[in-house]
Order: sequence, then structure tokens, then C-alpha cells
Amino acid sequence: MHEVEHHEHGATLLFGIGELTTNVPGVAGADDPDDPTAVVRDAAILLDGDRVAWVGREADAAAGVEAAIGRAPDRTVDVGRRAVIPGFVDSHTHLVFAGDRAAEFEARAAGRPYTAGGIRTTVTATRAASDDALRAGLARHVAEAAAQGTTTLEIKSGYGLTVADEERSVRLAREVTDEVTFLGAHVVPPELQGREDEYVDLVCGEMLAACAPAARWVDVFCETGAFTPDQARRVLTAGAAAGLGVRVHANQLGPGDGVQLAVSLGAASVDHCTYLSDDDVAALASSWTSAVPGTGTVATLLPGVELSTRQPYPDARRLLDAGVVVALASDCNPGSSYTSSMPLMVALAVQETGMTVAEAVRAATAGGAAALRRSDVGRLSPGARADLVVLDAPSRTYLAYRPGVPLVSHVWKEGRELHPSR
Ligand code: NIG
Ligand code: FE
Repeated sequence: MHEVEHHEHGATLLFGIGELTTNVPGVAGADDPDDPTAVVRDAAILLDGDRVAWVGREADAAAGVEAAIGRAPDRTVDVGRRAVIPGFVDSHTHLVFAGDRAAEFEARAAGRPYTAGGIRTTVTATRAASDDALRAGLARHVAEAAAQGTTTLEIKSGYGLTVADEERSVRLAREVTDEVTFLGAHVVPPELQGREDEYVDLVCGEMLAACAPAARWVDVFCETGAFTPDQARRVLTAGAAAGLGVRVHANQLGPGDGVQLAVSLGAASVDHCTYLSDDDVAALASSWTSAVPGTGTVATLLPGVELSTRQPYPDARRLLDAGVVVALASDCNPGSSYTSSMPLMVALAVQETGMTVAEAVRAATAGGAAALRRSDVGRLSPGARADLVVLDAPSRTYLAYRPGVPLVSHVWKEGRELHPSR
């Protein structure tokens, strides 16, 4: 691969792309022009500033570049017949935390079941940490994700659980991403055990008021042992009234009403979706047929959780066959899924949840974008943000075919080479 000599914006033509995934139908040269998951072989892509300006067949690049920007590109990069995909959109992480839960993980490896009770261990460590310690953890995990191809990252609060600690969590998350979620309703903190409704009042009142300015989303853990559907509805309704978009953690540890609640409130996403009834699947599907286009509820699957907790995997095939839009995310957190690897999510989704490779790559890119109601990321077509991953492989299939192998060779974000950094 050619070395890029400088990082200034300008126009860059990447050519020599063995296989390009755009997530957009109708690209000239695509294997099937009607199928958004179809690839373009022997492709090229023009990045102009922080945006994509043109995509197509390498053979058409000279004409395409001329039509798009009316001049030669400032630089050209030969990617050497490697595969290129949109940057991963990881729509669900909990990266504001301190400490680890390696001991809890070991106990699980010895047969103990996962319960959400371990969240309180992380709450204690997070409250005790300095701002700079939390910032250092954020920086380390954000860099780790970027090196694995993640170019858009959502981050939740939820390990503070006091007004001051939640406000600090969303504020620090906002320093590294625009996609910040207020998850004050993660669990009831130890000091308010047995006074759940009092805590919900605090979350909906003073805590929400303190956190809403730095947040884009409100989330709640609707599950036995965390919050009831009624409590979850109160939190989500208050968040929506404060101008936040709605997302929900539900149906992770067992069946429940969280998915139906999410759909009824027009949530952008309901996450986990491990235990679903036929009615849950039907409700998710109908959110995509009846609503205004693009405003359905995405089912976000987090197979790193099942890997780490030894739970049964969600059934992506059932959701996809019903017409539900599915996303894949890492859920990176110290308890239930301590991995930031979107390539691993693709591999798990293919091996364990019934997705095809094309569906899994789409779910990890365009699916994540849909879960964040973003149209500027998760696709590679003119006007999209110039976020892409060059794989050290001839096809995207290798993400699942060679699990655990570091295949992310180069990452471009907003038209600049982000990884490897020079
Ligand atoms: O998404 N489900 C709730 N919250 C996290 C778990 C967090 C933890 O165990 O610390 C999750 O899996
Ligand atoms: Fe989570």
C-alpha cells in the first residue's frame, strides 16, 4: 500500500479495491444493483474532505472523479486488492467505568451464572475514580475500538448512579463522541435498595436535568432485577420530554415486556433481544412497515454478551426473516462483554445467530447507523461521511472465516487516515 504522506484534507482516490461494500443499492458495477448488500469488485472510492464524493468501478474512476470534483485527486492510494467496508458503527457501549470484573468472569468460567448484580462492583470503582482516570480509560478503549475499525461509537453512562456521578459520566463521554446515552436507570444503587421508586423519581427529575444537556439518548435496563416496564416507561417518557431519543435494554436475561414498551414508545433501538416471543418479533417488524420510513425500532444484538456470559445466543434469522432491521454492537463493558471488537461481533453473528456474512457486515455498519438514526454513516456513497475500513483480506467474508485474526489493516475516518496512526 502507498504511504500517505500527509493528513490534510483534500481529495483522495482509493483504488485497487478488490471488493467494496457500500450498503447502497444501484451502484454501477455492483454484483446485483438492487441488493444493498451486493459488493462492487475492482472498485475505487473518492474521498473529498470529510465526505465520500464518488464510488464505482475502478475502470470508471477517471470519469467519476472528473464529474465529482472537476480535477485530479490530491493523492491516490492503492489498497492492493484488499476488501473495503464502511467503518463499523458500534451503537452500544458502556465505556465510562473504572476497575475490572475479571474475578467475576473467572467465577462464571467456573460455572457461576451471570447476574446483573456485578454492575454495583463497577459503580463503586467508578465513583471512586478521578475524572482523569475515567478519561484515560475512555481514551484507551476508544483507541482500541478505532484500531478495530469502529468509526462511530455510542457511549452510555450508568456506573455513576448519583446526580453528580451520572453528570460526570455523560460529560466525559461527550468529550469523545456525539452519541452519548444517559443510562441513570441502569440498576438501583446500593444506597437506595428497596426504595426503587424514589430512585426512579431522582432519575426522571434532577438527574435527567443534569445529564440531558450532554446526552442525545435516554436508555433504561428493563429486566427482572433492574427496572419494571412501568418504571422504564416513566424514565423513557421523561427523557423524551427532555428532548432525548429513546433506546432500551430488554429481554436479555429472560422474556419480558421491554421490547413491546420500546416499540410503543418509538424507540430507535431495543438492545439484547435474546428472549423474544412471536408477539415481540411481530411488533418489531410492524414498526418498520407502519411508521414513517427510517423510524422503526432496530433490534440490536450483542453477541459478545452471550459469549462472555454463556447464555443462549439471540436468533437473528427469525428477526431478519420477519423484516426487522437488525444491528450488531459490542456492548463493551467490564461485566457482560469486555470486548470492543466489531469484527468479533460479525464472526459471532455468522456462527451463532444465523446471519449470512452480508447480513452481519450490514448489521455492524448500516444497522448501527439505523439504531442511532444516522444517515451519514454506515454507507459508502456520495455525501456519506468518509469513514471506511480496509481489510487485510480479499473479501469481507474473512471477518467470519478467520475469527480472532486482526484483519483491520487501515481505518479512514472523516477522510483522514486514523489507523495506523503515524
Ligand atoms: O448491557 N444489561 C445491562 N447492562 C450491561 C451489563 C453491564 C454490566 O454487567 O456491568 C449490558 O449487558
Ligand atoms: Fe448494555
